[in-house]
Amino acid sequence: MKKLTMLAIAAVAAYMFTGCAKQDDSLKMITEATFPPYEFLRGQEIAGIDVEICKAVAAKLGKKFQAETVDFDSVIPAVISGKADLAAAGITITEDRKKNVDFSDPYVKTGIVVIYKKSNPFKDKDQLKGKKIGVQAGTTSETFVTDQLKQEPERSKSPAEAVAALKAGRVEFVIADIDPAKNCVKGEADLALSDFITSEEYAVAIRKGQPELLKAINETIAEVKKDGRLAKWIADFTAEADKLKDK
Ligand code: ARG
Repeated sequence: MKKLTMLAIAAVAAYMFTGCAKQDDSLKMITEATFPPYEFLRGQEIAGIDVEICKAVAAKLGKKFQAETVDFDSVIPAVISGKADLAAAGITITEDRKKNVDFSDPYVKTGIVVIYKKSNPFKDKDQLKGKKIGVQAGTTSETFVTDQLKQEPERSKSPAEAVAALKAGRVEFVIADIDPAKNCVKGEADLALSDFITSEEYAVAIRKGQPELLKAINETIAEVKKDGRLAKWIADFTAEADKLKDK
C-alpha cells in the first residue's frame, strides 16, 4: 500500500513537472498566456486570438485541440523538442528564430512601444540609453535593449509584471508589444504609450521540416483573414481582455 502511494505521488509529481503531456490524436499549442488579447487566462482556460487560430488549424486537420502555457522563453524550445506541435504566442518573425523553427505566413503587423509615466515623458530612443528598462524575458523587447541599446534590461515574467515595476519606480521605462501594452495602461491615468519603435509581424512557429503542417496553418491563416474571423477575434478578445482589466 505504502509503495503504491509513493508511486502515485511520483506520477503526480512527474506530471506536474512535465506539464500536460501531448496526446497522439490532438494538436498541441504551446503559448505564454499573459499577453492579451493574443492569449490570456479566462479563469483556468487559455483564451485569445492565437488560441482561435490554432483551434481552426486543429479543426482543419480533424484533430482534438490542447493548449498549455509556459514561460515565454520556453515556448519555442517546446516545439523544437516535440513537446508541442504549434507555438503561437504573439511570436515575432526574426532571422535568429528562423534558424531554429519554421514560421507560417504572418497574421498580424505590429511592433513594440515604450510605456512611460506621464511625469517622465518619453521623447526618443536616445533617452533610453543607460536607463533601467523593464521587458518580458525572451521577447523582441529584450533583444531591442540588449542588441540596439547594448545594455541589460530588467527581465519580468509578463508585460504586466514589468508595468508593476514601472509603477513602483523600480524601472524608468517598459518596452512591450503594443496590444498587451495598451491593456496594461488601460485605466492607469499616469501611464502613456509611445509610437512604434519597431515594425514586427506575428506568425505561428513549428519544428522545422513539416511542410504538410505548415501548409495547413497557412491555409487556415488565409481563410480566417479572408472570411473576417481574424478581425472579429481581434475585436472580441480586445474587448474581453479590457473588461478583465476592469475587474
Ligand atoms: N512579439 C514579441 C516576441 O516575439 C513578444 C511576444 C510575447 N508573447 C507572449 N505570449 N508573452 O518576442
